[in-house]
Amino acid sequence: MPLKIMSIIIAMDFDDSKKAIDFLALFKEPVIAKIGMELFYKSGPDIVEKIKKLGHQIFIDLKLCDIPNTVYSAMKVIGSYGADIVNLHAFGGIKMMKEAKRGLVEGSTGKVAKLIAVTQLTSSDPEMIKNELLIDTPLNECILQYAKNAKLAGLDGVVCSPLEVRIIKEAIGEDFLTLTPGIRYPEAGADDQFRITTPEMAGKLKTDYIVVGRPITRAENPIASYQKINKDYLGGKNES
Ligand code: C5P
Repeated sequence: MPLKIMSIIIAMDFDDSKKAIDFLALFKEPVIAKIGMELFYKSGPDIVEKIKKLGHQIFIDLKLCDIPNTVYSAMKVIGSYGADIVNLHAFGGIKMMKEAKRGLVEGSTGKVAKLIAVTQLTSSDPEMIKNELLIDTPLNECILQYAKNAKLAGLDGVVCSPLEVRIIKEAIGEDFLTLTPGIRYPEAGADDQFRITTPEMAGKLKTDYIVVGRPITRAENPIASYQKINKDYLGGKNES
């Protein structure tokens, strides 16, 4: 099944597979489930197959960043899992991203997953980037450059904040995918996120996917929270 644009990706940040599977059992419809480092390292690749069998689509979020040859080999393995989306850090450079794509294509037995590059983490703020990482280029410029590098390397899109979606799509094209975490309501805390927007604002900025974790997984009623976020993201429409 092709991935539906303007969808929520649920960040399944659980510390074991039972919790993840029990959580997904709450949903009557298929969702896009993001398997991040915590769940993947704890449960191993089997968790991908288990969640796929339940009918859900999968984003494997392992954010690879290493020398090109290592990333090529690792992506070859990841390609064999049959996920719908996989990612890496743009910080590794164009050569690394090209090798990642080559590995992913070679390792895939069926359709090739969308390959997405993380630009700057949505938890990073401009002060940290300037003072700790010694990057003096304004954040938006830096993120746009990483996105252009990803496009040059043949990737399908980037992970960024909704605040950066317009500048990226206007420069690279509307069909260059944006996946955007950092989704919060003003009344809820930001947790460790920094460059945040509401679901409604993310929808107005026309991001392709919003990645939402704690506001759904830690909600008292995760289904109600998922539906509210989805409705607000879609501009008040009830579509699920
Ligand atoms: O709980 P919360 O909604 O903050 O979860 C956001 C998810 O998106 C986490 O799983 C985090 O690893 C991921 N992510 C992010 N910022 C990025 C890339 C991924 O927050 N730039």
